[in-house]
Amino acid sequence: MLPAPLQKNLTLPVIAAPMFLVSGTKLVTACCQSGVIGTFPALNARSSEQLDEWITQIKSELSDTSTAFGVNLVVHRSNERLASDLEVIKSHKVPLVITSLGADPAVIETVHSYGGKVFHDVVNLRFAKKAAQSGVDGLIAVCAGGGGHAGTSSPFALIAEIREFFDGTLLLAGAISSGRDIAAARALGADAAYMGTRFIATAEANVSDDYKTMIEQSGSADVVYTPKISGVPASFLSKSLDQHGVDLATHQPPTKLDFGAELSAEDKQSVDHSGPKPWKDLWSAGQGAGAIKSSPSVSSLIAELTFDYNAAIESLSNR
Ligand SMILES: Cc1cc2nc3c(=O)[nH]c(=O)nc-3n(C[C@H](O)[C@H](O)[C@H](O)COP(=O)(O)O)c2cc1C
Repeated sequence: MLPAPLQKNLTLPVIAAPMFLVSGTKLVTACCQSGVIGTFPALNARSSEQLDEWITQIKSELSDTSTAFGVNLVVHRSNERLASDLEVIKSHKVPLVITSLGADPAVIETVHSYGGKVFHDVVNLRFAKKAAQSGVDGLIAVCAGGGGHAGTSSPFALIAEIREFFDGTLLLAGAISSGRDIAAARALGADAAYMGTRFIATAEANVSDDYKTMIEQSGSADVVYTPKISGVPASFLSKSLDQHGVDLATHQPPTKLDFGAELSAEDKQSVDHSGPKPWKDLWSAGQGAGAIKSSPSVSSLIAELTFDYNAAIESLSNR
């Protein structure tokens, strides 16, 4: 089950996943006003001061009928903003904090001190056990076919393995694009679906129309999973690599990966080649792109997902 504060006004068991450069205040507020939880990476704001402004703006646009929102924190020594961003999060009592890389008990304690909840994303059983021991409220199983730094596990395998030792909130991520997919995630034992790529192709996503069109026109086979672009394995649209003449056979991966810098302001980027930049020029998406044919507004998307989710559950229970 999702923790009670996160269930408020939720009409569909979905969290719109945080995405570097893609998720801004517009996407978050549209999600929260449409009945799903909206989130964004803290590092999408250019500074802790701007993070403060963004959260103030999001809170001012949400009403009694909105859902809770969340902020994603990269918990890694390379993230120089971690302490100041966490202060901002604490001062605003952000309801949900999604941690990546490190499940740090000190971060968890800070968020718990004001009544917030912490979910941590994991790609395998080892990290899931570590995070559970640290006291997180929820785990996000990022499985094969996902966008960004996805995992390689089958959702059938990883969800079952995590459920053996963890009875907290469990979310499933990786190529979830339709209402039927959300129903399938619930059938597997997840409490909610964690969807990234589907929300890139929406009116409110902070990306170019060309990126959205490329997702609409890509199939699952047009997604490559490679460490050669960002330094660790991640999913990218092969058409985007082609557009910039990137040949994976000869492309040199970055020699140094600094998650905090990689995910922060462009000028701090440590990726040491001068060509097209991962995320900004070389676009990421998961295999769920294959099921995406349009880029509607978030409210239309949620209405469609809700209809299809309910229809899928009904048709299965009638069988
Ligand atoms: C363009 C893009 C950027 C992403 N950036 C982040 C990020 O900054 N932090 C993070 O925790 N996950 C990030 N992710 C991963 C998503 O939060 C989520 O785990 C993933 O998109 C789920 O798979 P799906 O895209 O198949 O739905 C990103 C994914 C994409 C596609």
